[in-house]
Amino acid sequence: MKHSSLAGQIAVITGASRGIGAAIARKLALLGARTVLTARALDQLKQVQDEIVAAGGHAESHCCDLADSAQIEAFARAVLKAHGRCDILVNNAGVGWFQGPLHTMSTEEWERTVAINLRAPFLLLRAFAPSMIAAHRGHIINISSLASKNPVANGAAYAGSKWGLNGMMVSAAEELRQHQVRVSLIAPGSVQTEFGAGLASKKSPLGAIQPEDIADIVALLATQPDQSFISEVLVRPTLKN
Ligand SMILES: NC(=O)c1ccc[n+]([C@@H]2O[C@H](COP(=O)([O-])OP(=O)(O)OC[C@H]3O[C@@H](n4cnc5c(N)ncnc54)[C@H](OP(=O)(O)O)[C@@H]3O)[C@@H](O)[C@H]2O)c1
Repeated sequence: MKHSSLAGQIAVITGASRGIGAAIARKLALLGARTVLTARALDQLKQVQDEIVAAGGHAESHCCDLADSAQIEAFARAVLKAHGRCDILVNNAGVGWFQGPLHTMSTEEWERTVAINLRAPFLLLRAFAPSMIAAHRGHIINISSLASKNPVANGAAYAGSKWGLNGMMVSAAEELRQHQVRVSLIAPGSVQTEFGAGLASKKSPLGAIQPEDIADIVALLATQPDQSFISEVLVRPTLKN
């Protein structure tokens, strides 16, 4: 896959310490973006950062708990102070609770799911959209899920947070496209990561998408020509098992 360069663009990637987010960070850095990595595990973030820098790319790490709105606001302020803007925001971090039906879920687990999967993307969009509007360009790319299209028994709050993410972001897309800021959704099926206790790793090779496959799609979206707006991408494993 050949992309034009993202040289000099500031790309913020949440959940960049492992899995899909780490793959996205590596890919955008390879294309020349200055990547800003965030998650809670600073040691894991630094490993991804070191890999990117060793490959000749730019990366920095920020510890931030996305369940905490004050930490998100402090993180965004730090990015804007250091770089003056954000060109690409990838709302990737997400959590799921798949341990039983909704009526057995605690309020705390429900609130944590919604805070990380739905409130954090809102707070980050609110923090960074003004700098994109001022620059007349920007991408806000959201990693949703095929769970946002289907009922998910024993994962109702996760599905609800992702259905909500879709509704919020397709609406924000209509608000921001007049400013040449493109807000998009990528909705994968099972991806081979540690997510959901590594459920995808128990599938056959053709039954689980690789994190790099999602990173390639993020790169495609972030390098579209100015007039083109891919608003939503659904990604399925080839084999259904
Ligand atoms: N894997 C799949 O099958 C699949 C399918 C469809 C959609 N997705 C979506 O893809 C996205 C990435 O998933 P993944 O498979 O890469 O999952 P993963 O391997 O579990 O990684 C999740 C990332 O989110 C970060 N994170 C979790 N809680 C956080 C918090 N409170 N504050 C800040 N960061 C937090 C984690 O870092 P720390 O733990 O260091 O904070 C980690 O970097 C999620 O939105 C998920 O819903 C995954």
